[in-house]
This record gives sequence, structure tokens and C-alpha cells, in this order.
Amino acid sequence: MSNSGAQHRIAVIGGDGIGPEVTAVALKVVAAAGVDMVTTEFDLGGARYLRDGEVLSDETLAELRHFDAILLGAVGTPGVPPGVIERGLLLKMRFELDLYVNQRPFVGTAPGHDRPHEFVVIRENTEGPYVGEGGVLRKGTPFEVATQGSVNTRMGVERCIRYAFELAAGRERRHVTLVHKTNVLTFAGNLWERTFDEVAADYPDVGTAYNHVDAACIYFVQDPHRYDVVVTDNLFGDILTDLGGAVSGGIGLASSANLNPARTGPSMFEPVHGSAPDIAGQNVANPVAAILSAALMLDFLDETAAADRIRAACAEPVIGSTTHVGDEIAARLQG
Ligand code: IPM
Ligand code: MN
Repeated sequence: MSNSGAQHRIAVIGGDGIGPEVTAVALKVVAAAGVDMVTTEFDLGGARYLRDGEVLSDETLAELRHFDAILLGAVGTPGVPPGVIERGLLLKMRFELDLYVNQRPFVGTAPGHDRPHEFVVIRENTEGPYVGEGGVLRKGTPFEVATQGSVNTRMGVERCIRYAFELAAGRERRHVTLVHKTNVLTFAGNLWERTFDEVAADYPDVGTAYNHVDAACIYFVQDPHRYDVVVTDNLFGDILTDLGGAVSGGIGLASSANLNPARTGPSMFEPVHGSAPDIAGQNVANPVAAILSAALMLDFLDETAAADRIRAACAEPVIGSTTHVGDEIAARLQG
């Protein structure tokens, strides 16, 4: 069938809650698209942590490095303190595997428009307030002090912005918007702005704009058509992409790629949604975000024809259980 001829080694982390259900469906759809892959399951996430204390050991991380890609469902279980799995598993993979771009595409129809908008957010994925710089003093006293730093390196900002311009240069509209808060975060904002302008000079055919992040929230809701590629820092990108999901058909459709564009190791693909423990095991979770994340994985593995076919098969809505939606989309690919 339409594939590159290569066999891809995929590490699968179903994770917690609805994660394993939607991941199983996504893999079924990838197989139906005729892509040749071998999968290896890794039992990681909140449930594993509660069972034997492992979050992501250095040995497991070393094993993951041998794969071509990682497909992740969702992680997070009630009863695990906040941050344990997020920092110890998800962020550890993003940082250690140098997944410095978080790419999140959106397609939707804004109120008052009949034409769909289509844009993509490039979120810096290894720096900013996510690095865990800071600390706490005098904890639990009235004099408690907490600081949380934001780390922005010239190298980290530049490689992310350059990725955004490279992507935009290959798109029809060829436009990049920088989103930040340069009027308040003057140190980091200035580094982002200068770097953006310098990289932009290398891409004379790509148009540019700048929005403050608060204004961008209004435009995401009222006028998403103005965007083609949006590039922003880690935390702004986290918040904006949930908003992007909400205005583009809901978080059940939002897909993401954590990319190491230098390809020094595997990239990781995951739906934006979480583990949704309240609906886990009921066969009611929407698997489309996981399926579209698997399509992003195929793009990165040079299986773009299969990825495009999967996206086309997801375009017509399907109503039913998790497994029914998967079966229907798989049938469209085979039919
Ligand atoms: C996301 C998630 C993560 C993030 C959490 C789970 C650490 O919200 O991928 O958007 O903040 O990056
Ligand atoms: Mn998020």
C-alpha cells in the first residue's frame, strides 16, 4: 500500500485513564492505512507509579531512545501528587529527548464564518517557566516566598522560531505571528522579539505579525483566520493551545507533536487532552485527537501520503463509541 517501504519502530505509552483506549484505536487506524510498524508497549504513567514507584527511570529512557517515534495516550491518575508524572515523565521526555518544538494544528469554523480556518501553533517546548527554576523559602509560614523563573536562551528561542519560519515558508499563506508579552516581560520578550526579527530577515517571502498574548486570546476566538503559523513560548503556548482546541471543534480533536527536528532521537506524539479518569473504561472517549496525533507522527516518519489519507478519513464526523469511531475510520481507509 501507500507507504515509504520502511518499517517503523514505535514505542507506545498508553498511560492512564482514556489513554490506552484512544491509543489502541489510533494504532488500528495507522495499521489500516497500510503503514508498516512494530510497536512496543511501555507501562508508564500514574497507575504504574502508584504500583511500584517508577515514573521514568534512566534505563527506560535509554530504551526509548532506540525507537523511531513515541506515541503517547495520556498520563495522570487521581491520588498522585501534582507534578510527579508531569515533570517526571512528560517533561522529562520533552527535555531529555530535546523535543524542542510542540506543534499543534487547528482547523475549525469561527462564528460568523462559513469557511474553515486552518492554522498551527509552534510552542517552544524545553524552556520558559517549565524548566523548574526557582524555589521556596520559609514554607508554611506567613513569610513564605516562592519564585518560579522563566529561562529563555538565545539558542532555544532561535531554533524554535527558525522551525516556525521553515514551516511557514512551505505553506500557502507564508505568515508567522509571534505571540508574547513584550510590554511586561521585557527581558524575555526582548530576546524573543529581536530573535524573531533576525530570523525573519532570512525569510523575505514570509510575512510577519506580533500580538500580545492577551490580545491573541481575543483573536483566537473572534478572528482565528488571521493566523497561519503562531510561534510562542512554552507557557503561553500551553494556554493558547487549549483555547485553540476549544474554538476548533473541542479538545477531543486537538492533536500534537513534540518534535526533535534535529532528529537526534525519537519524537513524541500525543493528543492535547488529558487522561479524563471520569470517563475511562467506558468506551466513550473521542479517539480522533489520538488518531490525528498518529497522523502527525506519520508526517514526521515520511509517511505523508498515509497521514493525509487518515486526516481525510477523519474529516467526516462519526458518532458512536470509541471503538466504533475507530472501526469506521479504519474502514474508510480500507474501502
Ligand atoms: C500539555 C499539558 C502538559 C503541559 C502538562 C500535562 C504538563 O498540559 O501538553 O499541554 O503543560 O505541557
Ligand atoms: Mn496543556
